[in-house]
Amino acid sequence: MDEKVTTRSLQKWKQEGRKIVAVTAYDNPSAKLAEDAGIDVILVGDSVGNTMLGYETTVPVSLNEVLHHLKAVWRGIERALLVADMPFLSYGVSVEDTIYNAGKLMQAGAEAVKLEGASPITLAAMESMVELGIPVMAHLGFTPQSVHQFGGFRVQGRSEEAADALMNALNAVENAGAFAVVLELIPADLAERLTQATALPTIGIGAGAGCDGQIQVWHDILGLSEETYKHSKPYVNLREQIGQALQTYVREVKEKQFPTKEQSF
Ligand code: KIV
Repeated sequence: MDEKVTTRSLQKWKQEGRKIVAVTAYDNPSAKLAEDAGIDVILVGDSVGNTMLGYETTVPVSLNEVLHHLKAVWRGIERALLVADMPFLSYGVSVEDTIYNAGKLMQAGAEAVKLEGASPITLAAMESMVELGIPVMAHLGFTPQSVHQFGGFRVQGRSEEAADALMNALNAVENAGAFAVVLELIPADLAERLTQATALPTIGIGAGAGCDGQIQVWHDILGLSEETYKHSKPYVNLREQIGQALQTYVREVKEKQFPTKEQSF
């Protein structure tokens, strides 16, 4: 096995110009496949809400739901850095609650937690968590838990003021002790400027090629999502392949072609 990925690896790779590869995973077999493929960072994202639990957004996802999926992923991981998302309202209400909830994720196997935005409580909680030994990944730009505030899934940072606000938020999370930052749905030239302006490794999704790494949602790159998004590339069409396999199974059972002697005792 290659050397275990840690928060320090990401910082070293940024300096060396070695790209960081991250993906979300929500279950044990997927975690093992991601490990075997050499993925550096596995995120148990709150996108589990949209991808696995049938929610429209990530807002309804609970801490217990993330914990459930985290434990399954953790049992499949050796080398990758395992990051868990803090779901909506598990942080940002009070520093105490945030630390307590992050602690539960760490005790379930997470090696770092990710939270969205840079609100005053979030920044204060980041500082306290880092002091306590909980590594924090920040998440700026389009932050899916604020989808209703943004009025939909929209690219952020298009105006000069919005770009300045993102630069300020980036400085704030860096000063609060984050070890890396996800930049989601922002113009590529802005993401590149942010990447050059910070010591933090930037991991982009819909933020162009200038970030220090990329993260993608499992279902999007494997063609399992119902939609295809501009920011992702399906490397295989599993939805179609699984559909065809299941239809063949249905037909073969109905036509008495399965099981044959080969599958019988
Ligand atoms: O939950 C998630 O999948 C994420 C990625 C989009 C970075 O936060």
